[in-house]
Amino acid sequence: MTDRVDDQSLRGFLAMVQERFPEEFLRVSERVDSRLVPTAMVLELDRAGQSPVVMFDRLGDFDMPCVTNVAANRRLLAACLGVEPSALPTAFRDRSQNPIPCEVVERAAWDEVVLEGDALDLTKLPIPYQFTVDAAPYITAGQVTARDPLTGVDTTGFHRLMLKDKNRLGVSLHSRRRMYEYHRRAEERGESLPAAITIGVHPLHYMGSMTYAYGADVRKYEIIGALFGEPYRLARCGVGDLEAPAGAEMVIEGEILAGVHEPEGPFGEFTGYASYRSTQNVFVAHRLRMRRDAFFHSVTSGMSKDHILISCVTREGEILNALRRNLPNVTGVHVPHSTCGAFLAVIAMKKTAEGEPQMAAMAALATELYTKYVIVVDDDVDIFDLNDVFWAIATRVHAEKDIFFVPGAKGAIIDPSSDPKDFTLTKMGIDATRPSGREFAERLVVPDEARERARSILRGAGITL
Ligand SMILES: Cc1cc2nc3c(=O)[nH]c(=O)nc-3n(C[C@H](O)[C@H](O)[C@H](O)COP(=O)(O)O)c2cc1C
Repeated sequence: MTDRVDDQSLRGFLAMVQERFPEEFLRVSERVDSRLVPTAMVLELDRAGQSPVVMFDRLGDFDMPCVTNVAANRRLLAACLGVEPSALPTAFRDRSQNPIPCEVVERAAWDEVVLEGDALDLTKLPIPYQFTVDAAPYITAGQVTARDPLTGVDTTGFHRLMLKDKNRLGVSLHSRRRMYEYHRRAEERGESLPAAITIGVHPLHYMGSMTYAYGADVRKYEIIGALFGEPYRLARCGVGDLEAPAGAEMVIEGEILAGVHEPEGPFGEFTGYASYRSTQNVFVAHRLRMRRDAFFHSVTSGMSKDHILISCVTREGEILNALRRNLPNVTGVHVPHSTCGAFLAVIAMKKTAEGEPQMAAMAALATELYTKYVIVVDDDVDIFDLNDVFWAIATRVHAEKDIFFVPGAKGAIIDPSSDPKDFTLTKMGIDATRPSGREFAERLVVPDEARERARSILRGAGITL
């Protein structure tokens, strides 16, 4: 396959990492149990503050290699966009404003091997079993694509896929975004939804697939093209006029059944809890197409950085997007990993008048169902340092007037705090900014010059800073 296709592929990304950031690539050549050990390794790396991509040459009894921890590293994601890590959310937001039409190429890299009928057996893929609570091994890096039965516009997004049989996967569409709606529309007509699962895509595909603040007629593939800065190269696969990225490792063609619900889960979710909540849909596979030397990709699930970091970055970008329309004085947004990359957003602003932090908090709380707590701080606070954020809350908040609640708001199905009957919850905004228009206590600061001198002395004494 040509380099043009591979430039936008997962293997193109891995080649970039090995060439420019060799210290961020870990190859495990010894045979490793596919049950629990890969997850434990990635969580141990997270704990140690390390985020290399991990390539397992041999998992369990499988011959196919499996890569994980592809999206756990802000430095590597920033390199994909050619920016510094601190500029990642803004670059993501700015680039995704200008979708670029896709290019459809004749042949895809994944057309080299085609398995169907009796030869199709998904249990032969090196699918890790990630947590003891999981109902089965799960495909976690499957980008599911389908077309809207009404408009023909397609979508792509990760959905967890429970291995049930050689050609049967359980799927949960709990995000209730496009795929949930497309399936509902197909079901209304009594039809299954033709769909394809792409495995082994570039992290920019991963990022672009998470966008949501765009018109329903904008293809996510075009937003992914915008992130690449050139048309995303797709090829036709063999189901329902669908197109998939030409450089992917493999594509599973099939359909999400209408009117069929089967037990799906539990699954170790990004919330850090076992999730028993699911839309309980069923995907039936008809065909597997793959590269002759295909490798598998698995997102390490649970609260790993691999599972959560892109959600942090894309939410930061999307919330910025919502705020910049009315509040140009917002200077940054951070969605911390420790709040599952979902439930809390910290906003920094140069406040010009009272009430602006409340406006910012309300706009951010309304961007989507996962954002349930918002803290607004002044721009002297480092929003990427939660110690600094808690210091601002401790020293600048009058609880009775600076904290407000929005009861009965729609929450996420898999948020364990949402009401089990209707999934509502109470959202909260905290204004942790200084009062405007009057003197406030003066913050202690160490001048940059003295700080730099101190750092150089400490470095000279062998202390890593
Ligand atoms: C690793 C990962 C796994 C995900 N799993 C699911 C899932 O099982 N079900 C779901 O509805 N959303 C899941 N999401 C979120 C969706 O991928 C995301 O909301 C996406 O935008 C939905 O795409 P859609 O608009 O095509 O439905 C996951 C996200 C990530 C990063």
